[in-house]
Amino acid sequence: MKKSNIYFLLFVIGLLLNACTYDFIVKEELAPVDPTVDILFATQIAPIFTNGCVSCHKAGGQAPDLSAATAYANIKSMNLVNTAAPETSLIYNYPNPASTLHTWKKYSATEAQLVLTWIKQGAKNN
Ligand code: HEC
Repeated sequence: MKKSNIYFLLFVIGLLLNACTYDFIVKEELAPVDPTVDILFATQIAPIFTNGCVSCHKAGGQAPDLSAATAYANIKSMNLVNTAAPETSLIYNYPNPASTLHTWKKYSATEAQLVLTWIKQGAKNN
């Protein structure tokens, strides 16, 4: 085979390999969270815990107890929010989809964004 043919063959193989790498990128749709509207702990954050976390994080279970009635007090007393550097808050980054710290359960991307926005707004018991 001529040298130029080999280069052409490699070029075609390269194109084929490249074409395959683009097929599998699936982005999760992010529900838009408007940062100018207050996120409410009682109706938007606590339900995330009730649905996904209290099976383990409950009274007598794994700390923090994230039951709706006690979640706020426990998040505060365990220093799981840091309003000065919201992204470093454990309640946000421990079960984050991008984190490997907490293998038990992760937030959806939308839940993570809600929690982060709530912390950025001052982590209020509202
Ligand atoms: C299947 C059980 C299970 C579920 C469900 C679960 N967790 Fe956990 N979580 C644990 C265990 C066990 C630990 C402690 C060991 C570790 O760090 O992995 C822990 C640790 C944590 C910590 C660290 C606490 C500390 O002491 O620093 C946080 C924060 C946390 N979980 C938040 C959550 C949130 C928020 C959810 C719901 C989205 C959740 N967890 C769901 C089992 C669970």
